[in-house]
Amino acid sequence: MQRLRRLRRTGALRDLVAETSFRVSSLIYPVFVTDGENIREEVPSMPGVFRYSADRLPEIVDRMLDAGIGGTMLFGVPAKKDECGSEAYAEDGVVQRAIRLIKAYCAQKGAQLTVIADICLCEYTSHGHCGVLREGDVDNDASLPLHARAALAAARAGADMVAPSSMMDGVVAAIRRTLDENGFSFLPVMGYSAKFASVFYSPFRDAADSAPQTGDRKSYQMDCRNGREALRELAADEAEGADILMVKPALAYLDVVRAARERTLLPLAVYNVSGEYAMVKAAAAAGMLDEKRTVSELMTAFFRAGADIVITYHALDAAQWLREGTL
Ligand code: PBG
Repeated sequence: MQRLRRLRRTGALRDLVAETSFRVSSLIYPVFVTDGENIREEVPSMPGVFRYSADRLPEIVDRMLDAGIGGTMLFGVPAKKDECGSEAYAEDGVVQRAIRLIKAYCAQKGAQLTVIADICLCEYTSHGHCGVLREGDVDNDASLPLHARAALAAARAGADMVAPSSMMDGVVAAIRRTLDENGFSFLPVMGYSAKFASVFYSPFRDAADSAPQTGDRKSYQMDCRNGREALRELAADEAEGADILMVKPALAYLDVVRAARERTLLPLAVYNVSGEYAMVKAAAAAGMLDEKRTVSELMTAFFRAGADIVITYHALDAAQWLREGTL
């Protein structure tokens, strides 16, 4: 008789036949950087996640270096916003300053930390949309040069990678061209290729103060009913020259991750977003779920579905648990 339980009898047997494993170096930790000084404030809807002013970044950089994670992704929370999000591409914008500081700090320590700059306008525009507005809607093509300028500013500040997250058509190509024309042909682009309009971004919008003042993002982010269209978005980013593709959010979209894995040869990232993190923290705080086991099962599921890289607010905890051998 076929007995599938034979290989589950002991822990050692289960380890022997385990199909999925993952490394700390595949995890990316997002960090919110804010204007001002001596700021380290917890995001209310994201327990354990903080906004840092540039001068306070070394403490979180140290933790990331100690953890040995694969990199960090930076989001800016500027003091000033305007109609066209000019802080996003200012030479001394909040993220640009943070990148310079992190790079200088790491160089001084003789350490390396991969710094990815999220490229979008929503944290920098007064209206909170991911591009410039014309007659109430986001003007795709007028927004592209601004994204390209933001990517170039991040590159000049020393970013190791840029990741456009606005879901503008053609944004990967626009950024690729500008980087190439300015001596940054070596700099990779990670596309937020299939990014769905999702309620799971709500805590992030608290953290980054980036909720749209009017309307929503449904005219540019994807409709959660469309799996085939997600594959077209992924293929479009690949054709435009993206080096890494991403699916976002993670939990409710693992079918898309699996389908993407079967179609592309590029590295594939998933973004385990703020609302997914908040759910786990809330359930754990309420004593409803064990946090470590929950994180372990979720991370395993992301990699099992086909992700090579997971961007997650759990990265530092997961790294520590992995090292202890308890994850
Ligand atoms: C900016 C951006 C968002 C996230 C990453 N980049 C928010 C949004 O599109 O509203 C969400 C990340 C998260 O929820 O953790 N465009």
